[in-house]
This record gives sequence, structure tokens and C-alpha cells, in this order.
Amino acid sequence: MTTGLQDQLVALRLVRRHAILAGQSSHDAPVFFSSDNIKLILMIDLRHNYPVLDTQATILHHYMQRTADAVDQPLLALPPWHGASKDCIIAAHWLKATAGQKTLLCSSGNHAVLIIALALKLPGKTVVIEDFTYSAFKMLAAMLGIRLIPCPTDEHGIIPDALAELCRRHTVAALFVQPTIHNPTCLTMPLDRRQQLVEVAGSHDIAIIEDDAYRFLHESPPARFADLAPSHTLHIASLSKAFSPALKVSYLLVAEQFHQCVEEAIRLTSSGTSSVLACLASMMIEDGTIDEVIRLKRWEAGRRQAVMRDVLNGLNWQSHPTSFHVWLRLPQSCSADAVRDVLGKDGVDISSGNEFSAPGVDGNGAIRISLGAESKLERLTAGLSAIRNLVSAPGARAASA
Ligand SMILES: Cc1ncc(COP(=O)(O)O)c(C=O)c1O
Repeated sequence: MTTGLQDQLVALRLVRRHAILAGQSSHDAPVFFSSDNIKLILMIDLRHNYPVLDTQATILHHYMQRTADAVDQPLLALPPWHGASKDCIIAAHWLKATAGQKTLLCSSGNHAVLIIALALKLPGKTVVIEDFTYSAFKMLAAMLGIRLIPCPTDEHGIIPDALAELCRRHTVAALFVQPTIHNPTCLTMPLDRRQQLVEVAGSHDIAIIEDDAYRFLHESPPARFADLAPSHTLHIASLSKAFSPALKVSYLLVAEQFHQCVEEAIRLTSSGTSSVLACLASMMIEDGTIDEVIRLKRWEAGRRQAVMRDVLNGLNWQSHPTSFHVWLRLPQSCSADAVRDVLGKDGVDISSGNEFSAPGVDGNGAIRISLGAESKLERLTAGLSAIRNLVSAPGARAASA
């Protein structure tokens, strides 16, 4: 049998199984797939975290039409590398940039992180991270040759004395933090912890990279590092999750001292963000549409949290009431990589803690579950139930090899 045919048969079995799990007749399941699409179509996606509401296609359609109506010759011309001043002003106002802070446009959160890495010339230098951190930042550091050192954390995030000690022992260029609804742990750093870290960073003159990808989901987040230490912080806010990854627009708030190098990095990596998308984003910010979408996303996250609490009741998870992800600590008999692999074979895609663990930190004790990718709650419930069943009675399948 050819590999392609085998793939299709495996796919068919999985489709039937998921159709049954989702309460459909197995005959409803489509029969033929290209093997490239099999995974996307079949897996219950509890890995990716770009929640999109059903109404958003209509919203985007409306604003694309309004953007089309706004097209004129100047929109086609080259704006400043950091974005047209109208878009920067609208974003600065929306993000409540402090006086003296510059607002620059980038194309996504990841793009902004890359820009910061280049602007601060981080390759070859040392960056302190939390013991668990955003997986793509680990990958970026590996690709660019940035040395990552984990700092011990407690239930409030990075421990200030531990950071001070690392700064004394190493030449640290920057601290990378996600202070609000952290990915993957969901912790939100309280204000006093942020203030203490600002003091340490200030006294050792290190830059603070504040990746606030999930801040929009928090009802009343503490002040940003960008507010507490505007001269040292490079703050990232992206619309990929707040609206959709289809809208490739993100914003960087930086102090005057970083403006030129950040602008050069934007120029070199993208020649500037799309003026068309920036114009569309500005319209949605100006008339309050983005804020309304965000409000609805928080509500939707709360609904999914209720499903999660019901299915994972009694297990050792931590999250935030309006978060689209969950950090599930595993029983000692389980290993996160094995749990991920077994669930993957069963058609449920989750992330192992090892994908987020800093160098030298063991991530086998937890998995990250995303609640935002699946649009149907039945599929979310089926995926969570599969996790629950495996983790509650793990046996040999979920133990490390
Ligand atoms: C902490 C964090 N930063 C950045 C990103 C990437 O954002 P974007 O899709 O805007 O590049 C993600 C996406 O998962 C994230 O979790």
C-alpha cells in the first residue's frame, strides 16, 4: 500500500471517530483528503491560541469595504518606516502611550519581538527569561544565538532578588517578560512585583521586553512595565489575538532612546507594515469596534473556562477567568511529552511543558491547553475529555518512555 493511501485510511478512521465524538453520523464524514490537510482537518486543536468569534468575518468584511472606500493616491505611497503618523497617533491614544513614548507599527507580535532582538543587537548577548516562557521566543533566541538564562519564579512571577543576583553574575542585556496572563502559566504579575523588578532592571541598566500578548483579555490588569519604566521598556501589543491573525498589525511602545534602532529594524525586516491593514485597524480602533470585539472575546473565554472547569474538575490546573489557555500540572506518573504524543495519536493536539521550559528547566510536569482554536464547543469538550481520561488513569501510555 502506498504511504498516501495509508494516510487516507488513517485519516478516514480518525474522521469517523471524531464525527462520532462530536455526535454526528460517521457517514457525514468526508472521505478523501490530501495528506497535507489531514492533520488540520482532523485534529482537535487545543494547541493554537488565536480565538476568533463567529461574527468577525462580517465585521472584517464591513471594514474592508470601508477601507476600500478610503483608498486614495497617498495611501499607495511609502509612509515612514514606523507607519503613517495618523495610524501611530490613533494607536498611541488607544494604548495610552505615555508622554515621550513612541508608537511604531509592526506586522505581528512575533515580528515585534524579532525587531527588538535586532534593534538591541541581542545576538551573542544574554537575556533573562522566566523559567517557563513563550516557546517562539526560545526558538528565536536559538536561531539568532541569544543566550537565555532562566530566573527563578514564585506564584507572582520573577523573584526580584534572584534577578538581581543574575545581573551581578552575568552581563545581562535584557529581561523578557509576559506579565499579564502569562503564556503558558496564566499568571498575572501583581503591581508591587512589577515595581520591584523595575527597580532591579533600572539599577543594572537592562532593557525590559514586555510581550503583553494576552493583556487584552484581562478585565483590570496592573500597570504595564511600559508605564512603570517607560525609559527602559519595549512594549508589544498585537492585534493577532485581540482581533485575528488575518490582521497583521502590531504596535511597539518604546522610549525615545530606542526609536531609531527600532525603526531601522522595521525597515530591514519588512519595509514597514501594510498601510492598508494599518488603515483598517485604525478605523476599528477609532470607532470602538476592537474594544467591543475584545469585550466579547472575554465573555467567550469565560464560557469556555466554564466548560474546562467542568471537564477538568479535580485536576491540578491553573488559569485566569477570561483566559483562552490553561496550564495543567500532571500527576507524577505522567510525562508531558508522552501525554502530548499519546493525545496526538488519539487526535488531540496540545503543547508539552517542555516546549516552554527555559534551558535546564524540566517541563515534563505540565501541559498547556488552548481553549480558543476550536469553534465548536463539542469538539473542545471531546478534546478536554480525552485529556482528562488519559491524565486521570495514565497507566503506561502517559509515562515517559
Ligand atoms: C506571548 C506571545 N507573544 C507573541 C505571540 C505571537 O503573536 P503574533 O501572532 O501577533 O505574532 C504569541 C502567540 O501565541 C504569544 O503567545
